[in-house]
Amino acid sequence: MWVTPLLLALFLPLVSAVPLQQRKSATKLLLISFDGFRWNYDQDVDMPNLNAMAKDGVKAQYITPPFITITSPIHFTLLTGKYIENHGVIHNMFFNTSNGLKLPYYPTQGKSEWWDNGSLPIWITAQRQGLKTGSLFFPGGNATYQGEQVNVKKVESGFHKWDNKTEWANNIETVMRWFTEQDVDFVALYFGEPDSTGHKYGPESQERKNIVKQVDWAIGHIRSRIEDYGLKAKLNMIITADHGMRTILKEPAVNEIVLSRIPNFSFKDIQFELLDYGPTGLIMPKEGKLEQVYQALKNGHPHLNVYKKEELPERFHYGKNPRVPPLVLYGDPGYVVHGKIKVQNNKGEHGFDNEDMDMKTIFRAVGPSFKQDLMVEPFESIHIYALMCELLGIMPEAHNGSLEVTRNLLADATPPSTESQVAFIVVVTLGSITGFLLIVFLGSLINTAISRRREGQRA
Ligand SMILES: *[C@@H]1O[C@H](CO)[C@@H](O)[C@H](O)[C@H]1NC(C)=O
Ligand SMILES: *[C@@H]1O[C@H](CO)[C@@H](O)[C@H](O)[C@H]1NC(C)=O
Ligand SMILES: *[C@@H]1O[C@H](CO)[C@@H](O)[C@H](O)[C@H]1NC(C)=O
Ligand SMILES: *[C@@H]1O[C@H](CO)[C@@H](O)[C@H](O)[C@H]1NC(C)=O
Ligand SMILES: *[C@@H]1O[C@H](CO)[C@@H](O)[C@H](O)[C@H]1NC(C)=O
Ligand SMILES: *[C@@H]1O[C@H](CO)[C@@H](O)[C@H](O)[C@H]1NC(C)=O
Ligand SMILES: [Zn+2]
Repeated sequence: MWVTPLLLALFLPLVSAVPLQQRKSATKLLLISFDGFRWNYDQDVDMPNLNAMAKDGVKAQYITPPFITITSPIHFTLLTGKYIENHGVIHNMFFNTSNGLKLPYYPTQGKSEWWDNGSLPIWITAQRQGLKTGSLFFPGGNATYQGEQVNVKKVESGFHKWDNKTEWANNIETVMRWFTEQDVDFVALYFGEPDSTGHKYGPESQERKNIVKQVDWAIGHIRSRIEDYGLKAKLNMIITADHGMRTILKEPAVNEIVLSRIPNFSFKDIQFELLDYGPTGLIMPKEGKLEQVYQALKNGHPHLNVYKKEELPERFHYGKNPRVPPLVLYGDPGYVVHGKIKVQNNKGEHGFDNEDMDMKTIFRAVGPSFKQDLMVEPFESIHIYALMCELLGIMPEAHNGSLEVTRNLLADATPPSTESQVAFIVVVTLGSITGFLLIVFLGSLINTAISRRREGQRA
């Protein structure tokens, strides 16, 4: 009778070697944006959870956002891998130069024609390739693209209070349930901090440090919930943001930029303007007034940069979109652009040149597909899209990034492809069945032999 246990011992390791979770074809992906998290916010705040994540995963020194460095345009770059001039979401505010209509950030979130301008965000591309996706407060998640919407989503209320820790915990729980109960493959999760606090109190304030501490708590909480839900081995997580934050220079320390103070410039020559929005301004002069307005503004203030859209520095990749009005203005780092009167009171702002170090932001990633304890050189936000498509195993749309830039972040031992997993399972299953039949066969042989012997003894 020793033969049966021996055979079992031989075949059992094979049988139990079939890892159940490997039967899922792709790993899941959680993209998290902490709005306005400047690249070096972890240097004056103790962030044990962010540091632990860097040790378990990968970290870029910083990343360079596209210009202009504001929320919706950059988030749409993360979702499409395109420069802003190529995806068309050129501002946080929907506007129409013909009738003068301007919508603030929140109502623009629901304005699909603003977002759906010829480029598909990764949600829709993934859904078309059979995956299930979700958006929690993520910019762009409230729009319809070529008739399609994100599968599961939560949209914030207007005048949202962004620093509510209880709500953060609830949202993290919602995302975990989407991954487990609804088997969603990709979720984009957005936090409106530390941006809100950075604007209000300034990036060097104690308030900003406190909210960055809360971000660290959130990262620790997310990672422990991922473990609790049994997602650790199959979920990759990317933490990034749109832009950084800079302290605003004010009078009397500096001479602020106020367009109404500029000699020879008159608002009477303007048909449409989008001003008083941080350091950038968009202007459409009245017919025949372009040259006059341009010349007046160009020499108007030593810290004001004024360009005809087609003459914007190529590196911005901003001027070529038809939605960009004829004149683009931006202040030097620290200077916001006021219009008729000074209405901007924030202590911190973004929107500046993307080469300004204060506009740089973070990139961290952890999960089964990433290397561990790796720090890499800075790269541009446009490259994150190709990396996400690779992680999800989907074909990307045309974009401006390259997987080559981030390929070295990925673990060398790529998980086995679906095909080789199927082959493995087939071999193991056939092996087990053969083994089982062998056991049964040998068992019956032995039984027969024993009973024959017993019969023989009895006989
Ligand atoms: C802009 O306004 C004009 C005039 O009201 C209108 O004809 C046009 O459709 C509007 N464009 C958009 C994109 O809303
Ligand atoms: C993009 O939006 C502009 C109006 O702002 C419109 O004229 C153009 O047709 C749109 N393009 C696509 C591809 O949706
Ligand atoms: C956008 O959000 C609003 C408010 O929740 C909702 O009424 C609307 O249906 C949403 N639009 C889409 C396309 O999801
Ligand atoms: C924070 O969020 C929770 C859950 O949504 C809510 O019950 C609570 O009233 C909020 N607190 C504040 C101060 O807004
Ligand atoms: C304003 O315009 C007048 C007439 O074109 C010109 O002589 C003067 O130099 C301009 N002043 C400035 C500050 O550009
Ligand atoms: C960005 O990508 C678009 C295609 O999606 C392409 O038309 C454009 O030329 C690219 N821009 C640059 C600077 O490569
Ligand atoms: Zn932002």
